[in-house]
Amino acid sequence: MSERGYYGAYGGMYLPEILVQTFEELLAAFQQAKADPSFWAEFEQLMSTYSCRPTPITFAENLTRHFGGAKIFVKREDLNHTGAHKANNVMGQGLLVKRMGKTRVIAETGAGQHGVATATMAAKFGFECTIYMGEVDVQRQRPNVFWMERLGARVVPVTAGSRTLKDAINEAFRDWVTNMDTTHYVLGTACGPHPFPEIVSYFQSIIGKEARRQMLERQGRLPKRVYACVGGGSNAMGIFSGFFDEPSVELVGVEAGGHGLESGAHAARLAGRDASVGVAQGYRTYFLQDEEGQMKHTHSVAAGLDYIGVSPILAHLHETGAVRFEAATDAEVTEALALTVRKEGLIPALESSHAFAQAFKEAPTLSPDDCILINQSGRADKDIFTVADAFGDPAWKQFILQKAEEYRA
Ligand SMILES: Cc1ncc(COP(=O)(O)O)c(C=O)c1O
Repeated sequence: MSERGYYGAYGGMYLPEILVQTFEELLAAFQQAKADPSFWAEFEQLMSTYSCRPTPITFAENLTRHFGGAKIFVKREDLNHTGAHKANNVMGQGLLVKRMGKTRVIAETGAGQHGVATATMAAKFGFECTIYMGEVDVQRQRPNVFWMERLGARVVPVTAGSRTLKDAINEAFRDWVTNMDTTHYVLGTACGPHPFPEIVSYFQSIIGKEARRQMLERQGRLPKRVYACVGGGSNAMGIFSGFFDEPSVELVGVEAGGHGLESGAHAARLAGRDASVGVAQGYRTYFLQDEEGQMKHTHSVAAGLDYIGVSPILAHLHETGAVRFEAATDAEVTEALALTVRKEGLIPALESSHAFAQAFKEAPTLSPDDCILINQSGRADKDIFTVADAFGDPAWKQFILQKAEEYRA
């Protein structure tokens, strides 16, 4: 156990003895890369030629008119290759893997976005790739499994526990312990043992750096509030990092309110009262757990927010008051998504739609002289089945039934 990597009372490095050497190696490689200005330049170059960076900021003119309050701006992380901010982290870690001379990558995935992004990175860099995914998620996210396999990854369905994300993480750690010499674990969010929260936040900080510059160029001032959804916390850490030293900018993290904070069926660790501090999966943070430390079942319409823990850095920023945490319910989120699609032609992922839902609650209370910024962390192509179900689209159901008939024939 190491004292390093603490953010206030949260974080740390709670590791089995056998992994300590691998983490020391990773920490050294990361520190060297960070100290080398050519590394960030190589990262920016890669992202500008492979993933549409810098992503633009879009003025949501129609939504602004609709709500009649603050001017609404949207940071377009949905325009990244593979459709989400996840690309920033995986491509950055890919460059680190090259520096460390390893040849194989593994990852966990829930919604499948991080799995697809990792498999894409592995295809580009020529790494062998294995993705761990809960059996339930494999069934829910077949299109993403299809693409991971086409990209050359081996997808391993995890049958332990609740057969979802936390079980996939445990399985990925088990693999890493056995194959440390050749393998790097590409953790997908700003969680886990040190130095992962810092590594992931470092690569995602490209969002905040750009957003700050773009707001100043476009509006001549910074936004009054910045909204981001919070699963593990990587897109939030990314965009917030551009504004941490600006007391005039309020940072708002939006968690999954599921069926409501009183229902018990949600994934609000910091905005709700159901979570408590504990140690699991190698780090200390707020977890949705029972009195005996057993992890509870969480719920969200957005698979990417449906997680028991939260970034230790955000847990600390919650405690210091640097970030305000709110929760949006499934119903509010699907409504916000539908409105954004119809009014702006933007198609935010269900995860990102949490940030939109909260911003929509607050925009009318602000002055038209104020600007607010929403991070659109991803696009909703992956959510087509869930969104079609939420709206009970009869033509979509007919299409699926017809496809099933074709396969049966
Ligand atoms: C589009 C999108 N946004 C947000 C998230 C949540 O992750 P994080 O909190 O690490 O940004 C996910 C996770 O899968 C995602 O796919």
